[in-house]
Amino acid sequence: MDKLKEGYFISFEGIEGSGKTTISRLIAEMLMTDGYEVLATYEPGGTLIGNKIRDILLMPEHKNMSHYTELLLYNAARAQHLYEKILPALRTGKLIISDRFIDSTIAYQGYGRGIDLSLISIMDKIVTGGLKPNLTILLDVEVELGLKRNRGINKIDRLEIEEIEFHKRVREGYHLIAANEPERFKVVDASMSIEEVLQIVSEIIKKHLPC
Ligand code: TMP
Repeated sequence: MDKLKEGYFISFEGIEGSGKTTISRLIAEMLMTDGYEVLATYEPGGTLIGNKIRDILLMPEHKNMSHYTELLLYNAARAQHLYEKILPALRTGKLIISDRFIDSTIAYQGYGRGIDLSLISIMDKIVTGGLKPNLTILLDVEVELGLKRNRGINKIDRLEIEEIEFHKRVREGYHLIAANEPERFKVVDASMSIEEVLQIVSEIIKKHLPC
């Protein structure tokens, strides 16, 4: 059963260890059980080509990658993701749940790396044509707690091993992006238990879904 007349796009954002991968998966399962046709996906990746780009981006031995190479590769993965997955899903009325989208690039490459936001915006126009999610859930957690959670599950990639100040700039960046678009962004305190966060997020989503 497809409950939506038109597609609807929800993205999850947050720093390392915010729990967005777990929460977005559980939300996708919940919505499928409710009868929605769901595309559960993620960035960087979500396609064969995108996953190859993801490997290049995240391998710790690629520590010499320039910030512009990084920006271009995240955008290349997104272009493929849109072409293969997101646009077809929107056209066929699906509910898209994506673990990260454009706001990750603004937060990490823009605020984290310090790349000019106007350059990021120009590139975004080329890649997405300005398409934004209908709703973005920002799972907000203190950097120290997020990194501690990820160390607990031995998650180590090229961005994770960045200095703590980088992650602080990313978190601050997310706060600024969310404050600029209060209609689209809902900020949820993700320091609580998975069950509590799940409850809050599912209430927000049910309130916003068109039907
Ligand atoms: P993940 O750990 O949520 O799967 O994301 C992989 C890493 O990629 C994470 O450190 C955030 C980073 N990232 C960016 O820096 N820019 C982007 O545009 C995206 C989508 C992810």
